[in-house]
Amino acid sequence: MQITEAVRYVGVNDERIDLFEGLYQVPKGVSYNSYVILDEKTAVMDTVGAGFTKEWLDKVERALDGRVPDYLVVQHMEPDHSANIQILAEKYPQLVIVASAKAFVMMQHFFGTDFSKRRLVVSDGDTLILGRHTLTFFAAVMVHWPEVMMTYVDEEKLLFSADAFGSFGALNQEKREGNIWAIWETWADEAARYYFGIVGRYGLSVQKLLQKLAGKEIRIICPLHGTMLGNPVEPYICLYDKWSSYQPDKKGVLIVYTSVYGNTKKAVLLLAEKLREKGVDDVKLRDIARCEQYEVIAEAFRYDRLVLATTTYCTDIFPDMREFVENLIGRNFSNHFVAFIENGSWMPVAAKLIREKLEKCKKITFAETEVKLMSSLSEENKAEMDTLAKELCSL
Ligand code: FEO
Repeated sequence: MQITEAVRYVGVNDERIDLFEGLYQVPKGVSYNSYVILDEKTAVMDTVGAGFTKEWLDKVERALDGRVPDYLVVQHMEPDHSANIQILAEKYPQLVIVASAKAFVMMQHFFGTDFSKRRLVVSDGDTLILGRHTLTFFAAVMVHWPEVMMTYVDEEKLLFSADAFGSFGALNQEKREGNIWAIWETWADEAARYYFGIVGRYGLSVQKLLQKLAGKEIRIICPLHGTMLGNPVEPYICLYDKWSSYQPDKKGVLIVYTSVYGNTKKAVLLLAEKLREKGVDDVKLRDIARCEQYEVIAEAFRYDRLVLATTTYCTDIFPDMREFVENLIGRNFSNHFVAFIENGSWMPVAAKLIREKLEKCKKITFAETEVKLMSSLSEENKAEMDTLAKELCSL
């Protein structure tokens, strides 16, 4: 598949996978993207995950059309992209591997060799001339591992962005055979789930990278997962700028709750009703014990207001809610407005314990109104819910 005249897509779809990184549900699968650049010299950009070797090698061979690859550029060593380095190196003995110094240390760990006789170590700003095309390498430390680099091709205004700008979903899911380009209207949800789950903790590193790329004209972004971005790339970059600086990009109220016997659920349904009556168009309810945790994590970062409603369980926070809050904190949750509704039959402590955890995060504003149910929704609680709805609407 052609990206530009000189750049071919040779990635594969993984639709057999159950959990990406052993954690994230991927009902639409995932793609491992790899590319070939054709010039006087040829370069393969990254490999793909184990289990797709033959399919990928066949695609590389077809793209090369009788030529051999001169370079393999390794931007990221996570095995979903690096598993076939050794196999490609064995198949093409003249191949030179291009990567950061840290990546070669990782190759030693993964494969027992650092390819010292056939390697080119590059660092931030280094270039490699293929002919008409020059590759410029950018260190992208901790986006998402320390060895990561990205590659800019000035002649194509094209950025190979490693994990950044990646998204879940195999590339043929939209039933438009051969379509590999992102559609702006549908890109953000799966990209956000990917970003906040995997790269979210490293917002500062993404910010540094965006600053580094600010002076470059970019028309095409080719990530290691999901669709290519273009026509134009600016909206995607703007969204990444927001996400990586922990700014919400959706105006609305996300209510995340757990409910053991249905009383907390009644409370959040009432709050949702009051919010809608007061004109909040986007109110989303999520029972965190019964949905994909990482989808809701992305939503929590994206909505500007978050309500956490839960019970006390074993004198602690209800387990699914505790895990959810800890996952948010682990990804540097910040810059948000948070309100609490809690429920407990004799000694509710969940709200206090969650607040103590979130107080360690930066720029979290807590609602003044805190609703405490003692088993079920009382008349007093209903009035408090009205006050909380007003407070949430006043922002
Ligand atoms: Fe898809 Fe961090 O690798």
